[in-house]
Amino acid sequence: MGRVQTRVESALGRFLPARDIIPERLHQALRYAVLGGGKRVRPLLAFAAGEVAAADPARLEVVACALECIHAYSLVHDDLPCMDNDVLRHGKPTCHVEYDEATALLVGDSLQALAFQLLAEHRLADDPAKQLEMVRILASACGSRGMAGGQAIDLAAVGKSLSLPELEHMHMHKTGALIRASVALGARCSGALGAQELASLDDYAKCVGLAFQVVDDLLDCESSTATLGKTAGKDASSNKPTYVSVLGVTDARTLAGDLRRQAHRAIAGLKDGGGRLGELADFIVLRNF
Ligand code: IPE
Ligand code: IPE
Ligand code: MG
Ligand code: MG
Ligand code: MG
Repeated sequence: MGRVQTRVESALGRFLPARDIIPERLHQALRYAVLGGGKRVRPLLAFAAGEVAAADPARLEVVACALECIHAYSLVHDDLPCMDNDVLRHGKPTCHVEYDEATALLVGDSLQALAFQLLAEHRLADDPAKQLEMVRILASACGSRGMAGGQAIDLAAVGKSLSLPELEHMHMHKTGALIRASVALGARCSGALGAQELASLDDYAKCVGLAFQVVDDLLDCESSTATLGKTAGKDASSNKPTYVSVLGVTDARTLAGDLRRQAHRAIAGLKDGGGRLGELADFIVLRNF
């Protein structure tokens, strides 16, 4: 994990405009939002899926940075007063607190654009049509039928009670979609995998994508602000329906464990049993931050 995290941190540092490039304040805010924080789970998933396909790490690095740009943008916007209104992220003041709301909006806009710029300006697949398919996968994962749509459902659900299928639908979109895209893009950095292997990877990604948000809900309720680097207890105080509010802590933990086992089963038939992907499913479910 450390090896990929360090590699991605340094690549992001190179891809992001320098602090002294005009407009300086926007570029400083961009670097503030992206660098020096976060578990880099989406890059880790892309690298692990890419390793199953024996993909070129130089390609995986670009894909990993594009994914992390989208993720960092989603957090900057998620923290805005018009959304979750959070003041702490990665143990630091949130982007709009450190800078201002307009800058935070523009940071998100810029990061989303940078993600697609990266996918467009580097060679990521041997066949240009396959590369275009990668662009389409990321676009649909973060748009209104993916992450942004999930965020819309999340905001509309404040103060309401959701059924279990509704909650699953929300989580699969707001968080699951980008995690699914992370595995899909990593795997497509080489042409080595066939339809069946890609389908197994997608089954895995659906399980860990949902498990990721189930655990995020659990940690919000069970962990501390100091450990998380973001305000704990925020879901309950904001009246958000979560796996904890709908199922309770015990059943939410059981579900996360079931999803972890399902994720392992999905990749059991792949080369080396899916390599690092199994360990990442374990990390996603067993992590405490
Ligand atoms: C937090 O994501 C927001 C969700 C999608 C649940 P992460 O927990 O991956 O955020 P960082 O980047 O590691 O802080
Ligand atoms: C955020 O979910 C999902 C996205 C940013 C797309 P949360 O609102 O639960 O994330 P945290 O808990 O603030 O990190
Ligand atoms: Mg939110
Ligand atoms: Mg939030
Ligand atoms: Mg949360």
